Amino acid sequence: MMIRIWPLMACLLFAVSCKSQKGTTGTPDRYNTQVDSVLALMTLEEKIGQMTLYTTDWESTGPTIRKGYQEDIRKGTCGALFNSHTVAFTRQLQDIAVKESPLGIPLLFGYDVIHGYKTIFPVPLGESCSWDLAAIEQSASIAAAEAAAAGLHWTFAPMVDISREPRWGRVMEGAGEDPFLGSLIARARVHGFQGDHFNGTDKILACVKHFAGYGAPIAGRDYNTVDMSERTFRDIYFPPYKAGIEAGARTIMTSFNDLDGIPSTGNKWLLEEVLRKENNFTGFVVTDYTSINEMVNHGYAADDKHAGELAANAGVDMDMQGAVFQRYLKESIAAGLVSEKQVDEAVRRILRIKFELGLFKDPYKFSDAQREKAVVFAPAHLQAAREIARKSIVLLKNEDKVLPIANGKKIALVGPLVADRNNLIGEWRASGEGEKSVSILDAFQERAARDGFTFTHAKGCELTGDVTTGFEEALRNAQTADIIIAVVGEKWNMSGEAKARADISLPGMQEQLIKELVATGKPVVVVLMNGRPLTIPWIAEHATAVVEAWLPGTMGGLAVADVLFGDYNPSAKLTMTFPRHVGQVPIFYNEKNTGRPFDPNNGYTSRYLDMPNTPQYPFGYGLSYTTFTYDSMMVARKDYSFSDTIIATVNIKNTGSVAGEEIVQCYVRDLVGSVTRPLKELKGFEKIKLAPGESKKVTFKLTSKDLAFYTADMTFKAEPGAFWVMVGPDSERLQKKEIRLVQ
Ligand code: BGC
Repeated sequence: MMIRIWPLMACLLFAVSCKSQKGTTGTPDRYNTQVDSVLALMTLEEKIGQMTLYTTDWESTGPTIRKGYQEDIRKGTCGALFNSHTVAFTRQLQDIAVKESPLGIPLLFGYDVIHGYKTIFPVPLGESCSWDLAAIEQSASIAAAEAAAAGLHWTFAPMVDISREPRWGRVMEGAGEDPFLGSLIARARVHGFQGDHFNGTDKILACVKHFAGYGAPIAGRDYNTVDMSERTFRDIYFPPYKAGIEAGARTIMTSFNDLDGIPSTGNKWLLEEVLRKENNFTGFVVTDYTSINEMVNHGYAADDKHAGELAANAGVDMDMQGAVFQRYLKESIAAGLVSEKQVDEAVRRILRIKFELGLFKDPYKFSDAQREKAVVFAPAHLQAAREIARKSIVLLKNEDKVLPIANGKKIALVGPLVADRNNLIGEWRASGEGEKSVSILDAFQERAARDGFTFTHAKGCELTGDVTTGFEEALRNAQTADIIIAVVGEKWNMSGEAKARADISLPGMQEQLIKELVATGKPVVVVLMNGRPLTIPWIAEHATAVVEAWLPGTMGGLAVADVLFGDYNPSAKLTMTFPRHVGQVPIFYNEKNTGRPFDPNNGYTSRYLDMPNTPQYPFGYGLSYTTFTYDSMMVARKDYSFSDTIIATVNIKNTGSVAGEEIVQCYVRDLVGSVTRPLKELKGFEKIKLAPGESKKVTFKLTSKDLAFYTADMTFKAEPGAFWVMVGPDSERLQKKEIRLVQ
């Protein structure tokens, strides 16, 4: 006779929820009894089934499932699916698991909900430029609400990989180059997805990825080897993973790369020592797509079976799409190469999360067709997407105050992205529909009808290729205009997974088109839409204005128009350095001084022969339609003990004629350390809003913890000595005061 678990669970849940205790990590432990009671009923095949995650597919006709997978669900040998979404489809699959499998354990449904489910927000790199943690959390929270309403339980996000590599296509998914800001954003995103208790029907499980160091592939090529010191790993790359775990992320994904010679998916040090022991992670670890199998290509495992053993013994709980556990784990256990205890641990972690989600109580709790209809693409979500997109747009240049566009100007809209809708939503678009987004042309047409102005538009050229036949029409329009808005960039799928570029300039004939537009002598505003920092030295010098709009999402066109016409005063600042030339990469603000820092009067110092060391635009940089002045910064005093709070203050005034927001940044430098230290490290920021003429005092409070790092003996602590505390509008224009930390 089959024993189906979930109908029995209501009684069990009631019995054990009465004695909710605290576990060692502070999370309620009542689930352990429930988990153990299910585990006791399971065969080894069913246990391995819980460790097996398969994809479903999406054809033009709708969702499909591969041969054999339904049978696996029915037999209880597949416990989780990804890429299955919509209420109708997930309900159909859940029915098989719950009603037809021996134990009726519910399936877990995952999906890459990276920057929205249907309502698509700007790509995460763009969003990070808002430095607006509440807005970022809201974006994740809306994504969760839409995804949950479409039957999903779990997102493979946030991607928290720090990256100093604009060639790497996946920088679009992250929060840029800085560990401090990256950690705050990781926390905001995890909290947005999961909330305080993710067992509500508008929250989903988060998955911090890709653990670890995936953002530092050699030469920027996706999947490539990562090799860095443990100190750099811990100081720079690890903090956002840690922040995500501390924010309560219940799952973590291993990365494709090897780190110091060991593929992450077989890296016991990473998974057991760093993640579980040092950081008390109690959730489950899922691999990336077939990353167990790929350990054979890495040359770390002899064959798939061996790879499975390495992964299981390293602490992997769930195999994404590789089917390695399903095919070989039983055999490996029989041979004593993996212990059943290890498998039980993995299954416990997975089942526990199914309990935490409430799936044993109601396996269909996320399957509500009415809610799906009401929540997906809700007007409030679209409004939020427009607001966040505006906050993500960085004004890089604005000569002669050409922006905002003054009333009555004759406008020529030019460029391959003027009328494009599909491109706006970028890569990792989940269930997003490009054709439903608002293009720049749509937004201009709406405004023109409302405000009674006219404009021309022409494509000029494609995003790629070498055809210039469209130049003529574009230039003709430009000749009769007062201002030219050129909307150019990268194709939506030129960033994202496996989308590395060796040349990160504007593709195709776009730069040539801009050169010819500039040659008309008219002011040219370049609006960039792209998923990574680009090299644009000619444009930076010759265009009148440059606006970085990123791939701004479903409401992107409206957001860009809001900025161009001054309905929104731009406030975003870059979270990744823009190089002048790809040869400078990796380039990042928190570099070290070297023994021979650049000296213009000495050739034997750290320099290039053919260009400056400095970037085109530094980390933290972005302009506004107003101007801010910074008074002299003050520190309360010079000497501080380890338990003191270091207080730095600065007065900022809006000296322009419109209200604006400024992101005031605070950096530190440790002047002498037991190991060399960066020239500056971000340690605080505040986004303030000032009316014209208004001033505000901003106070930064630092403790010795903010000055800590992995010292020569690899302990995390601050060392006594002299520090600079620096404050300013970006990572280059900084005032400093010296302080001392004394024992
Ligand atoms: C990516 C992951 C993603 C997974 C599932 C992989 O190729 O690296 O980030 O979550 O696919 O779609």
